[in-house]
Formats: sequence, C-alpha cells, structure tokens
Amino acid sequence: MADKLIIFDTTLRDGEQSPGASMTRDEKIRIARQLERLRVDVIEAGFAASSNGDFESIRAIAGIVKDSTVCSLARANDRDIARAAEALKGANSSRIHTFIATSPLHMEKKLRMTPDQVLEQARLAVRYARQFTDNIEFSPEDGSRSDLDFLCRVLEAVISEGATTINVADTVGYGVPELYGQLVRTLRERVPNSDKAVWSVHCHNDLGMAVANSLAGVKLGGARQIECTINGLGERAGNTALEEVVMALKTRKDYFGLELGIDTTQIVPASKLVSQITGFTVQPNKAVVGANAFAHASGIHQDGVLKARDTYEIMRAEDVGWTANKIVLGKLSGRNAFKQRLQELGIEMESESDVNAAFARFKELADQKAEIFDEDILAIVSNEAQAERGEHFYFVSLSQRSETGERPHARVVFTAEDAEHVGEAEGNGPVDATLNAIESQVSSGAELLLYSVNAITTGTQSQGEVTVRLSKAGRIVNGVGTDPDIVAASAKAYLSALNKLFSKAEKLNPQLTP
Ligand code: KIV
Ligand code: ZN
Repeated sequence: MADKLIIFDTTLRDGEQSPGASMTRDEKIRIARQLERLRVDVIEAGFAASSNGDFESIRAIAGIVKDSTVCSLARANDRDIARAAEALKGANSSRIHTFIATSPLHMEKKLRMTPDQVLEQARLAVRYARQFTDNIEFSPEDGSRSDLDFLCRVLEAVISEGATTINVADTVGYGVPELYGQLVRTLRERVPNSDKAVWSVHCHNDLGMAVANSLAGVKLGGARQIECTINGLGERAGNTALEEVVMALKTRKDYFGLELGIDTTQIVPASKLVSQITGFTVQPNKAVVGANAFAHASGIHQDGVLKARDTYEIMRAEDVGWTANKIVLGKLSGRNAFKQRLQELGIEMESESDVNAAFARFKELADQKAEIFDEDILAIVSNEAQAERGEHFYFVSLSQRSETGERPHARVVFTAEDAEHVGEAEGNGPVDATLNAIESQVSSGAELLLYSVNAITTGTQSQGEVTVRLSKAGRIVNGVGTDPDIVAASAKAYLSALNKLFSKAEKLNPQLTP
C-alpha cells in the first residue's frame, strides 16, 4: 500500500490573507462544506485570535464539518492558543497550528527577539497547546531562510514537547525546488526525533514555484503533507494551488507513488465557489481549473482529441469536475426541482423561508434568461446571503442611458439603513456613470483599485459577474455582483464592496503582528 499524502487546505486562513479576499462567516461555511466534499484531510478554518468574526467562523465550521480535521492558526503565545482551542471545542477532529519566525531577519527585525528566546517561546507554545490536544502542528515561519543548525534545534525541541506535524514554511516564496526538497530531507535526517512527526510543506508562489517546490518537498524531502489553497489564493502571488498539486500527484502517480483521499470531481466546483465568493477570478489558461485548461474546450487540437483523446489530454475534464455547461433548470422548473438542485450542489439553506426567497429570485432570473445553469444558482445563493445579512447598502434598481456621441447618464436607486436613496450622474461610460451616481449619495472617499467583468457561463445570455476592489485608509475589500445586465451587476458589486469597507470587521494579519 502506497504512503498516504495529507492535503491541508488553508484557503480560509492563508488564502483569506490576500488583500480583498475577506469572507463572511456564511461564505466560509459554504467553502468549508465544499472542502469537506472534496475530502481534504485538514481544513485550516482561520486564525481564531484575529477577530471575533474569525473565532465564530471557526467555531461554526468545527460544529458542521465531520469528515475533515478542523484547524486554527495561533501565534506562539498562550492567549492565541487558548482562543484556538476554544473555537475548536465542538470539532470531531481538531488541530492547533502554532508558529513563530525562525530566520535571522524575522527574529531581529520583526520579533526583536534573540534566537534563544524564540526557541524557548516555540517550546512553551507547543507545551501549552498539548494541554488541549495531541494534534499540534508547528511552523517555523520563514523556515527556508533560517539557519540550519538553529532550525534543527527548534524543531527537535517542539517535537519533544509534542508537535505531531512540522511544517517547513517557505513564507516569501524564496525556495527553488531542488534546494527546498533538500532542506526538508536534511531536516528529517538531522533532527533526532524527526520520525515522531509528519513533515509538511508550505510554499508561497512569489517566483511561480510554489507547486514545484511543494512537489520537491514531497519527492526529494519525504514530506507527507502539502499545504495549499483553492486556485492558489493567497497573499502576494498566492500559495500552492490545491488543484495543481493534487492533479500532478494523481496524474503522475507512476512517479510520486502516493495515495490521496481527494475526490477530484469536486475540484472545479470548489474553484468556482472560491472565485465567486472572493471575487478573485481564475485566468483562462490556469492549469486544471482555467476555462481553457482542456484541449477540446480551447478548440486548438480538436481533430487530434476527437480521434484519440490522449493525443493532447493527460487528464479527463470530467475527472476534475468539468461538466459541459449543462442547463439544469428553466422557467417551468418548480420549487422541488430547485431544492433538489441546491442539495446536489451541496448548498444547505438554513430554513424553508430561505429556500422560498432563493426560489423567488430564481423565478425572476428565469423570466430574464431561459436557461439556468449551476453557476446561476450559486450566484442566486450568494445574492440571497447578502440580502439576509441585512447589508447597510442594498441595490434596488437602475436606469441608464447611453448613445454614441452622448455622455452616458445613470440613475441608481438603493437603500442605506432602509432609507431609499436616488443618485444620478454622468460618466465616461455607463459603468462610470453608475458608480458616480452611487458616489453622489455616499461620498465614500474610497479609491477604486480594480474593476473586472466576466460572463459566468457562456453566450451573451450569461449573467455578468463584476468584481470591484476598493481601498480606504489601508483597508482593501472586494465586492462581487451578478446580474444579466452588467451595468446593474456593477452597481451591486460596488454596493457590496462599500458594505465590506464600512463593516466593523477588522482582523489581525497573524504574520504582520508579532
Ligand atoms: O507562510 C507562512 O509562513 C505561514 C505560516 C503561518 C505557516 O502562513
Ligand atoms: Zn503562508
């Protein structure tokens, strides 16, 4: 029997540290459920000490997820660890993941601690965590730029205190495959009690090598856990992409020879969900989950593919969850068919009245477009969740006029704290006029960092999905809006971003706060 490789997903923690990717509790729960369907071994659900919101999200996920281990990050101090343990109390299986920086640069400039102090703090943190659980992960942050002898001393100490997983963090994506693989191997060879822990890799993608480094850590270094995120989401250039490492290990099992518990048919649904919730869209040529990832979809090698599929395809689209854009429902579909499709998509609504509200939206949409796809249903559920949260700003209606040679004009009606506002403005284009109309009432003072629009399915009937990224006073947020009318989708996305910008939910970045 081949060795098992543990897939540790950190979309909800490291992925969320990506500026603008913050998620609400309900959004995190939806993603966690999908990660469980994907059968990841460990879900890092957040950093409990960072905010009450994160604590509550972890607590909720710990109560819901049954088949994956639920984990919380904690800096190497008693308060963070106790908070993580508290949030994880209801979990079937839980893990505390504690970390401290070990590179000379981080110890001196960020922590302002001596190596001996760092070693002692790491040791005490694991000893304290041991009071709550025997499933403890320790990460030496910036491990790949740390002094080897010092790193060996720290890792030996934390393993003897009870750490069961050692995660060699390439925090700034500095590693190159051969060297990083050797580092993991050398650590395993030199740390005397290394056989008491599972070795793990955690790579960032600053030089585009996160996946290659992770695989080298496994193949050359003997690591048996990979930390990764859906779509490679994460700070700066992101983390190791789950879909890529998983499909590399599976497609080249002849070379890696490892077993995985992942249900790969859930990869594309997970990718779509994360992209839709965070507003981080997936580039078309992205491996595995990009729209052009499979030859027959991109049209280039169709002749070869039709004759013999493996001429140009090393994986099957359906094995990673690509389904031909299936029309799932239409105008005549009833409430039962709608409810059943929600169940098939793994969407659990809290009450029958939530189902009714979503069904009413579905009927509205089916009046506007004849064919309803899974992507449309996911968008309906997201819209519904926004409505239910009782957001401050809420879109009501839009009228907009544009004509060649004329300056476009927009009139937007929206509510703020239940009072109706009507904004009117002109702009360079219809979208500009629409956002100006909202700003004429709100005067947010926010800077627009990004505006992008995508069709969520194919064809001109598709709903447009708009992402707006705003920044104000150092805070960055993404808003997503969907509608068959892309100008209305833009207004919804802008209002959603404003809601996030003005929400009180502040949270700490675990790595930027010693
Ligand atoms: O990149 C990193 O060092 C981390 C640690 C907290 C594991 O995310
Ligand atoms: Zn990281």
